[in-house]
Amino acid sequence: MIFEDTRVTGVEEKADWQLKTGRGSIQAKNVVLATNLPIAGPIPYDERTRPRSHIAMAFRVDSQSAIDGMFIGIDEPTHSLRTGNDQDGPLLIVLGSKFPTGHDGDVAAHFRDLEAWTQRNLEVGDVAWRWVNEDYDTPDRVPFAGALAQAPGLYIATGFNAWGISNGTAAGILIAQQILGGLPDWAPVYDPMRKVPRKFNKGGDSQSLVHSLDDIEPGGGAVMNLGQGKIAVWKEDDGTPHAISASCTHKGCTVTWNNADRTWDCPCHGSIFATDGGVIHGPAVEPLPSRKFPANWLREGEDHW
Ligand code: FES
Repeated sequence: MIFEDTRVTGVEEKADWQLKTGRGSIQAKNVVLATNLPIAGPIPYDERTRPRSHIAMAFRVDSQSAIDGMFIGIDEPTHSLRTGNDQDGPLLIVLGSKFPTGHDGDVAAHFRDLEAWTQRNLEVGDVAWRWVNEDYDTPDRVPFAGALAQAPGLYIATGFNAWGISNGTAAGILIAQQILGGLPDWAPVYDPMRKVPRKFNKGGDSQSLVHSLDDIEPGGGAVMNLGQGKIAVWKEDDGTPHAISASCTHKGCTVTWNNADRTWDCPCHGSIFATDGGVIHGPAVEPLPSRKFPANWLREGEDHW
């Protein structure tokens, strides 16, 4: 049976594995945690990996100028190129600079740079799509994938080091064979329990701290310290402010405003939250709760959250 649009918020070991979801629980003999960074399990992969954001854009191109193949540059920042398609025709997909998730206070600048670089160097039309791609790096640049000896029936796949098309495919083959009782020869390379340096992930802090509500432009967001805790404030384009907790529900780090995606990004392990606090990307599984503004921050008639 397949359950779609069902977010798993917990994985517990009972007789079988029990998955907690917003719509009830599911029993399973085998569980594959393919959540980019595992949201559960006995090994803290959040300390053994580092989240990395990658700027990606897709430009309209005519079929004659579509490139043949995938290409990656050797300069910094590295650019990579490949073709794609959507319902309106061929696209050139360009990836540009990268940075640790939540460690950059001006993500929009990376998009401006990538757009300018592409237009300078390649024949492209309008921008059709833009997005921030997130993946996790590992100390030895090799993914962790496979079964966990301490948790029979639990499998993980993480740390694709931005080579998700090939590493994700390899992890899928490996785990499928393992569940069926086999193992590819190369499985030890991906051993999810191999020794790696401890504390590879040093965490980080918010890049969005401001002192006053007036420091936040319409359409922008920032973090303010209320004394009893930090709040994340986002203003709609008409200036209407909304406040939620700035403490990531995974392990409490303070989030950074992503001014390109208009999301709250965690600088520790890469969780991403919507402006209303909803979880877009784990390892957090709970939303950022709403917060009230102190009364003296609001103009007459305003009462947002
Ligand atoms: S993702 Fe771990 S503290 Fe935010």
